[in-house]
Amino acid sequence: MKEERGGFTGTFGAITASVGSAVGLGNVWKFPYELGENGGAGFLLIYIICVLLIGIPFMLSEFIVGRRTRLSAVGSFKSLTDKNSKWYLIGVLGVLSAFLIISFYIVIAGWTLHYLYLSISNAFEAVDSVAVNAIYDGFISGYFIPIFWAFLFVVITATVVISGVGNGIERWSKFLMPLLFLLLVGMCIRSLTLPNASLGLHFLFDVKFEDITFKTVISALGQSAFSLSLGMCCLLTYSSYMKKSDNLIKTSIWIVAIDTIVALMAAVMIFPAVFSFGVEPAAGPSLVFKTLPIVFGSMPYGAFFSALFFILLSIAALTSTISLMEIVVSYIIEEWKLSRKKSVLIASSAIFIFGTICSLSLSGIGIFELFGIPLFNVFNNLTTNYMLPIGGIGILLFVGWKMKIIDIKDELSSGGQYKIKFFNLFIWLVRVVIPVMIVLVYIF
Ligand code: TRP
Repeated sequence: MKEERGGFTGTFGAITASVGSAVGLGNVWKFPYELGENGGAGFLLIYIICVLLIGIPFMLSEFIVGRRTRLSAVGSFKSLTDKNSKWYLIGVLGVLSAFLIISFYIVIAGWTLHYLYLSISNAFEAVDSVAVNAIYDGFISGYFIPIFWAFLFVVITATVVISGVGNGIERWSKFLMPLLFLLLVGMCIRSLTLPNASLGLHFLFDVKFEDITFKTVISALGQSAFSLSLGMCCLLTYSSYMKKSDNLIKTSIWIVAIDTIVALMAAVMIFPAVFSFGVEPAAGPSLVFKTLPIVFGSMPYGAFFSALFFILLSIAALTSTISLMEIVVSYIIEEWKLSRKKSVLIASSAIFIFGTICSLSLSGIGIFELFGIPLFNVFNNLTTNYMLPIGGIGILLFVGWKMKIIDIKDELSSGGQYKIKFFNLFIWLVRVVIPVMIVLVYIF
């Protein structure tokens, strides 16, 4: 059974695959627009606090359960508890969240493909913010084209997921992520040298404490879980493929560091340009798509860099959709006892149907709304701001109160191979501090 599941080839493979899951549209698309909607620097500050204080213990908790049991979302909780216990519902919630997230995620992933196509056809040459708005509005109100791109993205994801974990996922993540990173560095430099770039930096780094509201805190908390792929047993599932000799603590620190740096770079790339070109910082999900084309349009060799950028962003999105689909698929394989092929087919069909609904809900036709809010936004906010934190509390409480201390220590130290520092801090953060903090935020 264990052999059949395959696995990563070592710590490096495990880290790159997990980074591949974490780094994605969450960093480059969602983080900047959440930051823009929530007033900038205050959001950034709370975000960093959430990542450091909550992100690392949270990720370790998922790793502990996943690698201990070598099972996925639902099976892992079942195998660690008695027959009548309800803890496995955390896993069920996780699978459901994964399904909802991937349904809206593939829509945006499809947009990146369309923007890649536009870059290649040189559509961004010397555009201004009016032209970019027109391009965006024209694209989104055509019903069929966004759905076509989303469909293509589902097919690509399914193709990789069918070939299994070690084979597909790891190979993809390994060398394309560094390339994206390099390109981001270049884009940051470009953005910082635009006229009035400093306005963007003020927006990013001048914290005004009076502007921090509970909505800021909830959004930052949810975004940190979303960006780190936490709260729905995604990294739990990945860690079930890790080796016993992999150092979980080191792995988690690497993932958190890289993911946060990429998000910060995305913000430094976007906001100077937003202010320089007069784009609305609170534009919402369309922000990146309304800003970057102007930057590229004003650059020498803009079409080339723009194409390269959207290729790499699509790949970053792909390594994330792979991880999201893998949760749903491994659930179907283990719980419904179906073959990988059949499971992928079922999962991708359902994802495509929900993706279509999400896409249409944004196109302005007025159906697929809940209380006047497009279902895209409903899924997006419901999962990020509620389902992930709630799933997260479940996982933390499970590790903190249900698992045996000796087992937790055994996993964290890989059976005594590595020293664990700060164990008491870790266990009390997991048991009390973080769950209480999250609950308090929601009560207020
Ligand atoms: N973290 C990914 C991103 O930033 C998205 C993602 C992949 C995710 N797997 C997840 C989000 C699991 C939440 C949970 O783009």
